[in-house]
Amino acid sequence: MEMLKYLLFAYFCGLSLNALVHAQAQSGFISIDCGIAENTSYTDKTTGLYYISDSSFIETGVSKSISLQYNSDTREQQFWNVRSFPDGIKNCYTLKPAQGRGNRYLIRASFMYGNYDSKDTIPAFDLYLGANKWDSVKLDNASSITVMEIMHIPSSNYVFVCLLNTGYGTPFISALELRHLTNNTYRTPSESLVLYRRLDMGTITNKSIRYKDDAFDRIWRPYHFLFGETLSTLLAIDSGAQNIYQLPSVVMQTAATPKNASSNLEFYMRPSNPTAQYYVYMHFAEVEKLEANQSREFNIYQNDEYWNGPITLDYLHSTTIFSTSPVSGDRIDYSIRKTETSTHPPILSALEVYIVHDLSESQTDDQDVDLIINVKKKYGVKRNWQGDPCAPKAYIWEGLNCSYGQESHDPVRIISLNLSSGGLTGDIASYISDLTMIESLDLSNNSLTGSVPDFLSKLQYLKFLDLSANNLTGSIPIELLERSTSGSLQLSVSGNPELCSSSSCKNNKNKNNKFVVPLIASMATLFVLLIALAILWTLKRRKGAVGVNTNKTKGIRKFGSLQLANHQFTYSEILDMTNNFERVIGRGGFGTVYHGYLNNIQVAVKMLSESSSQGYKEFQAEVKLLMRVHHRNLTSLVGYCKEDSYLGLIYEYMANGNLQRHLSDKNAYTLSWEDRMRIAVDAAQGLEYLHNGCKPPIIHRDIKTTNILLNEKLQAKLADFGLSRAFSFESGTHLSTAVAGTLGYLDPEYYMSNWLHEKSDVYSFGVALLEIITSRPVLVQTDDKPHISQWVSFMVETGEIKNIIDPRLRDNFNISSAWKAVEIASACVRRKSIERPTMNQVVMELKECLALEIAPRKDGHDTNNSIMNLNVDTHLTPFAR
Ligand SMILES: *[C@@H]1O[C@H](CO)[C@@H](O)[C@H](O)[C@H]1NC(C)=O
Ligand SMILES: *[C@@H]1O[C@H](CO)[C@@H](O)[C@H](O)[C@H]1NC(C)=O
Ligand SMILES: *[C@@H]1O[C@H](CO)[C@@H](O)[C@H](O)[C@H]1NC(C)=O
Ligand SMILES: *[C@@H]1O[C@H](CO)[C@@H](O)[C@H](O)[C@H]1NC(C)=O
Ligand SMILES: *[C@@H]1O[C@H](CO)[C@@H](O)[C@H](O)[C@H]1NC(C)=O
Ligand SMILES: *[C@@H]1O[C@H](CO)[C@@H](O)[C@H](O)[C@H]1NC(C)=O
Ligand SMILES: *[C@@H]1O[C@H](CO)[C@@H](O)[C@H](O)[C@H]1NC(C)=O
Ligand SMILES: *[C@@H]1O[C@H](CO)[C@@H](O)[C@H](O)[C@H]1NC(C)=O
Ligand SMILES: *[C@@H]1O[C@H](CO)[C@@H](O)[C@H](O)[C@H]1NC(C)=O
Ligand SMILES: *[C@@H]1O[C@H](CO)[C@@H](O)[C@H](O)[C@H]1NC(C)=O
Repeated sequence: MEMLKYLLFAYFCGLSLNALVHAQAQSGFISIDCGIAENTSYTDKTTGLYYISDSSFIETGVSKSISLQYNSDTREQQFWNVRSFPDGIKNCYTLKPAQGRGNRYLIRASFMYGNYDSKDTIPAFDLYLGANKWDSVKLDNASSITVMEIMHIPSSNYVFVCLLNTGYGTPFISALELRHLTNNTYRTPSESLVLYRRLDMGTITNKSIRYKDDAFDRIWRPYHFLFGETLSTLLAIDSGAQNIYQLPSVVMQTAATPKNASSNLEFYMRPSNPTAQYYVYMHFAEVEKLEANQSREFNIYQNDEYWNGPITLDYLHSTTIFSTSPVSGDRIDYSIRKTETSTHPPILSALEVYIVHDLSESQTDDQDVDLIINVKKKYGVKRNWQGDPCAPKAYIWEGLNCSYGQESHDPVRIISLNLSSGGLTGDIASYISDLTMIESLDLSNNSLTGSVPDFLSKLQYLKFLDLSANNLTGSIPIELLERSTSGSLQLSVSGNPELCSSSSCKNNKNKNNKFVVPLIASMATLFVLLIALAILWTLKRRKGAVGVNTNKTKGIRKFGSLQLANHQFTYSEILDMTNNFERVIGRGGFGTVYHGYLNNIQVAVKMLSESSSQGYKEFQAEVKLLMRVHHRNLTSLVGYCKEDSYLGLIYEYMANGNLQRHLSDKNAYTLSWEDRMRIAVDAAQGLEYLHNGCKPPIIHRDIKTTNILLNEKLQAKLADFGLSRAFSFESGTHLSTAVAGTLGYLDPEYYMSNWLHEKSDVYSFGVALLEIITSRPVLVQTDDKPHISQWVSFMVETGEIKNIIDPRLRDNFNISSAWKAVEIASACVRRKSIERPTMNQVVMELKECLALEIAPRKDGHDTNNSIMNLNVDTHLTPFAR
C-alpha cells in the first residue's frame, strides 16, 4: 500500500516511474553518463542500469558527442557523449555516496575518445582519486575503450575523481560509476586494490557479464585456457544460498579444465614491477554430478610451493580461495593440480587479480571540506575551486594554505583562507567558526556587511585577520582587540566606515566575553567533575533517579591516583566521531562499543550504558589501568569522555574485531594455523606483561576469546580491563575477592576458594588456547563432556591430532606444532593452579609452536599443462552481454 501511494505520488508529480524503480533496485550504485544533457537520465537497454547526467557532480567542462563515424546503435549509450575539460589543470567530480566513509566501493571510470573534438588526436592525461594519483589514462585509438577500476575504502565522506591535464591533450571522460560493496568481501589490509584481471573461465558465449547477472556490477571478461576445455551446467549455482562474493551464476556455470585429464591448470604473471603486490581470488563451483566412486580434489601451488588445498567442491555451490597476504616478484605462477586420489582433473570457474594501490596521501579533513564547500556556495566564489581543497599539494585551491602533518595518514587541515577582493557580499559566514586550525584569514576588499562576529575570537590559532575595506558595522569583539594589543593577532579593520574599532564603543554587546568561563578547564577541575559524576552515577543506580546531589566536590580523596593524562572529548565530539552512534561494533563489559573516526583515523568508542550494573566501577578500573600500562598486545586508550551522565572511552580501532568471531565456522575466512599461533603468542605476551611487566602485577580476570581483539594485520591485543585487579606482593601471592569472570573460562580453584592469583588468568588463557586450536565452543551443555578441556583430553587419548585441530584446516598445519600447542593448553587448564605454567613459560613455548609451523615446506610438480598468461590483456569485448 505504501509503495502504491509512493508510485502514485511519483506519477502525479511527473517523476519517471522507471527512475524510482531503478533507484531502489540499484541502491548503492551511482551511474553517471558524462556529457549528456543537464538533469537527464535513462535506463541502459542491455544492462538495465539507470544512468544520470553528470551535471550535479561537476561544475566545469563542456558536453560533447563522439563523431558519427564511431557511433552506432550497438555502441553502449554511455560512450555516445563525453565531458571534456579544455580549461583548468584539475577538474573534479564530487561524489558523496550515501553509505559514507569506511565502506568499500568499486569505482570505475570509462573513456572512449571517438574523435569528439574532430582533432583526430588522442589525448593522454592523469586520473586522481582524492589526493592520490589513480592512474594515467592512455588510449590506443579513437574507438578503443579504456576502463579503470579500483576498490577503495575512502576515509572521507567525499570521493573526488579528478582529471589532470598533463600537457598531452584535453582530458575527457565518458562514464563514471560507483558501486557499494558489502564490506566482508575482498578484505585485505590494503584500503585500495586496482583491478588487474577479472575473468570468466571456460565461457560458452564469449560475452562479458555484468549487472544484473552480477549484483555488484563487476564486469567479468570471457577467457579460455590454451590447452583447456569447458565444463558447464544449465543449473543455477548458489541458488537460494548466500555466498558473500555473490558470484553471478552464469559465470560460475562454466568452468575451465585441462584437456588432458592428468595435467594441471596453470596461469602466470610476469610483473614489470617486481615490487607490485598482487591479491588473487579463485572461484570454483562443481558443475558435474560426481558418482560415489568419483572425486575431484586438488591442491594449489604458488611459485611451485604448496599454497592451498586439498580442495574439494560442493555440487552447484561456489568456493572462493584467495590470498591472505599479497604476492610480489618478477614471476608469479599458479598451478592447480589434482591430488593422487582424485579421479577428475581440476577446474577453475572464475579468477580475479588485484594490485595493491597506495592511496595513503590524506584527503582534507571532512569538516574542513564541508565548511569550505558551504563558504563557496554562500558567496558564490568564482574561482576554480574543485575536488579536494588541499590535495594533491600541487593543486591546492587558490586562496588556501593547508597543514599536512608528518605522516601520510595525518589529517590535512586548512590553515589559511584568502578571499580578498572576491566580491563577497552578506555577513561573515558562521561556517568560518569551524575552521578551527586557521592561522590567517583575509576577507579584505569585499562588500561584507553586518557585525564582526564573536566566533572569530574563538579561533585560537588565528594570527592574522584582515577585514579592511568592507561595510562591516557595530563593534569589534573585545577579545580580538585584546589579542591585537598583546601582539598575538595582527588585525586590520580599516576602511569600514560604520565599524567602531575602539574598546570604548557604546552598546558593546561583547562585554560578556570577559566573564565567559575559559573553555579549557584545568586537569584538576576535570578530575573533580569526573569524580562527581561517579558519585552521581552510583547514587542514581542505587537509589533511583530522585534526589540527586549535585555537589561537585565530594569524594575527591577516593580516586587520588587517577591521572587523566589522555585527551578528553566532549559528548558532541563523540556524537560527531561516531556519526550519532551509527555503527555498533560490539558490546563490552559495561556498555556498547561504536565505530568512529577521529581525524580520519578509525577508533572504537565504548559508552557506559546506564543499565550496566557494574557500570562506573569497571569504567574506572579500565581507565586507571590503561592510563598506566602500555604494551603492543594491549588495546590502547586514545581518550575518554565524561559529560553529564555520559561516560565513554575511545580506543584504537581493531579492524578485525574479536577472536571468537574469527574462530567461528560462520566466518568465511578460516584462520590458518600460523595465524592462530601468532595470535596465541600475541595474547600470551599481553597477559605476560600484565603479570610480570607491571608493578604491582595486574590480574586481568576476564581472559576469553571475545576479549582478544585483532587489528587489520591480525595482530592480537587484549581488551576489556573492567574486572582487572592490581595486587601487591607484600600482601602475599593471592588476593581474596568476590568471584568474577565468565563461565567456562573461570578457574575452578578460584571459584572454590575465592583466592585470586595470576594462575587464574593462566587457566582462562588455556581455555582460550583450546578454542584457538579446535574452534569448538567452550561449553556444550548437551555433551557428556561439556567443557572444551574435557573434550580435548578425551580426544588426546585417541592419539589422532587431526581429530582435535579445527577440521577446516584439513592437513594444513605442522603436526609437531599442533601437538605442542595442545600440550601447552592442557597444562594451563590443570585443576591445581600450582601445576599450571607461568605466562612467561607459556610465551616461550608458544613461540616454539610458531617457529615449527613457519619452517618451509616444498612439493614437486610436472609439465604438459593448461596454461594461461595473464599478462596478455583481455580487453576483447566491451560491455555487451
Ligand atoms: C537542473 O536542475 C537544477 C537543480 O534542480 C536546476 O537549477 C537547473 O536549472 C536544471 N537545469 C536544466 C537545464 O533544467
Ligand atoms: C584500436 O585498438 C584496439 C586495441 O585496444 C584494437 O583491438 C583495434 O583493432 C584498434 N582499432 C583500430 C581501428 O585500429
Ligand atoms: C559492514 O557494513 C555494515 C553496514 O554497511 C555494518 O553494519 C557492518 O558493521 C560493517 N562491518 C565491518 C566489519 O565494518
Ligand atoms: C569462444 O572463444 C573460443 C576461443 O577463442 C572459441 O573456440 C569459441 O568458438 C568461441 N565461441 C563462440 C560462441 O563464439
Ligand atoms: C596427458 O598427460 C600425461 C602426463 O602429463 C602424458 O603422459 C600423456 O601422454 C598425456 N596424454 C595426452 C593424450 O596427451
Ligand atoms: C563407478 O561406479 C559405476 C556404477 O555406479 C561403475 O559403472 C563404474 O565402472 C565405476 N567406476 C570406477 C572407476 O570404479
Ligand atoms: C601560503 O603560504 C605561502 C608560503 O608560506 C605564502 O607565500 C602564501 O601567501 C600563503 N597563501 C595564503 C593564501 O595565505
Ligand atoms: C590575499 O590575496 C591578495 C591577492 O589576491 C594579496 O594581495 C594578499 O596579500 C593576500 N593576503 C595574504 C594574507 O596573503
Ligand atoms: C578591490 O577589489 C576590486 C574588485 O572587487 C579590485 O578592482 C581592486 O583592485 C581591489 N583593490 C585592492 C586594493 O586590492
Ligand atoms: C557600503 O555601503 C554603502 C551604502 O550602504 C555603499 O554606498 C558603498 O558602496 C558600500 N561599500 C562597499 C565597499 O561595498
